[in-house]
Amino acid sequence: MIVQLNDVIKRYQQKRLALDHLDFDVNKGEVVGLLGPNGAGKTTAIKTIVGLEDIDEGSVKIFGQTHNGKNQAVKKRIGLVTQELTIYEDLSAYENLLFFGKLYGLRGDALKKRIEEVSKLIGLEERIHDKPSRYSGGMKRRLNIGCALLHEPELIIMDEPTVGIDPQSRNYILEFVKTLAKDSDTAIIYTSHYIEEVEAIADRIFIIDEGHIIAKGTLDDLIAKIKGDHHTMISVDIPSKKTLETFKAMDDVKDASLKDSTYHIVTLPGVNVLDAFLKTLGDTKILQVYDKQPNLEDVFLMLTGKRLRDGEVT
Ligand SMILES: Nc1ncnc2c1ncn2[C@@H]1O[C@H](COP(=O)(O)OP(=O)(O)OP(=O)(O)O)[C@@H](O)[C@H]1O
Ligand SMILES: [Mg+2]
Repeated sequence: MIVQLNDVIKRYQQKRLALDHLDFDVNKGEVVGLLGPNGAGKTTAIKTIVGLEDIDEGSVKIFGQTHNGKNQAVKKRIGLVTQELTIYEDLSAYENLLFFGKLYGLRGDALKKRIEEVSKLIGLEERIHDKPSRYSGGMKRRLNIGCALLHEPELIIMDEPTVGIDPQSRNYILEFVKTLAKDSDTAIIYTSHYIEEVEAIADRIFIIDEGHIIAKGTLDDLIAKIKGDHHTMISVDIPSKKTLETFKAMDDVKDASLKDSTYHIVTLPGVNVLDAFLKTLGDTKILQVYDKQPNLEDVFLMLTGKRLRDGEVT
């Protein structure tokens, strides 16, 4: 086991719990997705793993050793890509890599060779002598990732590495994580509030909400939790809140929501409610009716009663 957090409690300034009996684990070579809305405790969990924050109760074990943040040998085996950029804008990308490489004890030809490898990995070899101030947001993110990879860590932690960047860079980073995962024993923790990213890259997923893991498992495990639920989508030309409330109040309806002009109605398996839905809609013009396969978003919705989409909880 690479990471093992047991029953971890963390309070900031004796106030609300940021981590509330958190259990979390990562095995060798695994990509673990940590999915949760803003303020769920993702960054705090990561800070406790790398020893940047002390915990109030519970235990944190990294590489089988109890970790308190002071163990430099443990720190050298971890590569942390922070949520905030930590690169120097007035040094070239190359100089940034040189600086971080030295920080991790690399020197001379070994460092130069490693910088070449990493530049390729992050797809910046042609722009490596430019200053990041001339980079796009996505390129800066990639450099930020590169700086954490130089010392070939056994555990790479990426805290929301795709927030606020262009789709092309986002895909690049996702593909890059997949490649890294395939070719090595490196374990990766990837936090995000983008469900589709976690679905695409994680071997196992932990869903965190209010400092607590509310579900964990493979994507299939998680979706199996809500299998059986039936999802009906009805697109109309003019939706109404009142109709939505009527759907919600129906006996067989577990949940109903409205996005743009499509109602999403979750019902128990085996009950025929379409007729009742259509009656409720009355004269409203129906554009489309279809069934939907449940996804991770529906798992989250069922577990928390909240919607998690692009960081918005509604
Ligand atoms: N330094 C701090 N002092 C006080 N409270 C904090 C501090 N850092 C985080 N918190 C609180 O702890 C909780 C968890 O925050 P955290 O940053 O871990 O969430 P997150 O899941 O990383 O959110 P985001 O998706 O916005 O990055 C929040 O309620 C936050 O306000
Ligand atoms: Mg965070």
